Amino acid sequence: MTTPLPRGLPLDRVSFDEQAAGVFDARAGFPAGVAEQIADTVVRYAGVDAGDLIVEIGAGTGLIGAWLARPPARYLGLDASQPMLSGFATRLPEGGHARLVHADADQPWPVADGTARVVFGSRVFQLLDPEHLVREANRVARPDRAVLVQGRLERHPDSPKVLLRRALHERLRAHGLTPRPAGRLLQRLLERAAEAGGTLLPPVTAASWPHEVKPGDVLDEWRQKYSMGGVTPPAEVSAAILDELAEWVADRFGEPAGPVWTEESFVLEGVQLQPPKERDE
Ligand SMILES: C[S@@+](CC[C@H](N)C(=O)[O-])C[C@H]1O[C@@H](n2cnc3c(N)ncnc32)[C@H](O)[C@@H]1O
Repeated sequence: MTTPLPRGLPLDRVSFDEQAAGVFDARAGFPAGVAEQIADTVVRYAGVDAGDLIVEIGAGTGLIGAWLARPPARYLGLDASQPMLSGFATRLPEGGHARLVHADADQPWPVADGTARVVFGSRVFQLLDPEHLVREANRVARPDRAVLVQGRLERHPDSPKVLLRRALHERLRAHGLTPRPAGRLLQRLLERAAEAGGTLLPPVTAASWPHEVKPGDVLDEWRQKYSMGGVTPPAEVSAAILDELAEWVADRFGEPAGPVWTEESFVLEGVQLQPPKERDE
C-alpha cells in the first residue's frame, strides 16, 4: 500500500521533517526482530566493546539506533530533522547513555576528537557530502581503532523493484537520458574513505527477510516523484515512461498485477579508519 503524503507534494520533495516519524516508519520500517539483528551485527562488525561510543549519523526515528543505544554502549544519534528525532526519543531505551542531537551532518559534528569506536549510517550517506563525512569520521575516530560503517538495503535480483528499475533505466536511455547506477554514491564514499588511508572491510549481510511487493505500488510511488533513476526528465517524458512501464508490468506480472514475494537484505559495508596518530607520522 502506498502511504499518503503530506500536502500532496511529490515524494522526493517531501522533507524528513514533513514526513513525520510515523509516516517514515510505515514506509521504511523493518519486520519484527530485523532491526535488532542489524544493530547486533553492527556492534560485532565494528568490534564495539562495553562503554564504547557509537555515533550514528542520520539516526532518523531510531529504527536501528534504539537497539544500538542499549547499555552498556554509549550512543550519540545525530539528525537534521527534529521531528524524526522526536520519534526516536519515544523509543530510547531506559537507563542507557544515549544522546540525540539535532545537527546537520554536512557541518562540523558535535562530537569530540578521537572518541568514537564506530561511525554508523543507515540509508543516509548517499545524501551527504562524502569528503566532509570522511574528514569528520577520521577526526572523531578513536586513535586505537575505529570503523566507518554504512548500512543499506539490498534487493533480490528478481525483485519487481530491481526489474522495474532496470526497465526504467532502459527507457531513460532510449529517451537520451543517462540514469545514475544504483549505489554509486555509497561506493564513492567507501573509495573516498580508503583514499584517506582507511582499509576496506568485507561486506556482511546483517539480515534477510521475505518481502511482499505490489509492482503497481512501485509505479504509483514513482508517479509521485519528480526525479527517476537519478535524473529529472521533462514531465511529458516521465509520463510517457511511466505509461510504458505500466504496460511492461501488465505483460510481466499480469493485469491487475498481484503481490510478488521476494527477499530483501540489509548489508553492512565498512572501512577501518586510519588512526590519526599513524596518519600524522
Ligand atoms: C532515509 S532516513 C534513514 C533513517 C535511519 N538511518 C534508518 O535507516 O531508519 C535519512 C535520515 O537522514 C537524515 N538526514 C538527511 N540529511 C541529513 C544531514 N545533512 N544531516 C543529518 N541528518 C540528515 C534525515 O533527517 C533522516 O532522518
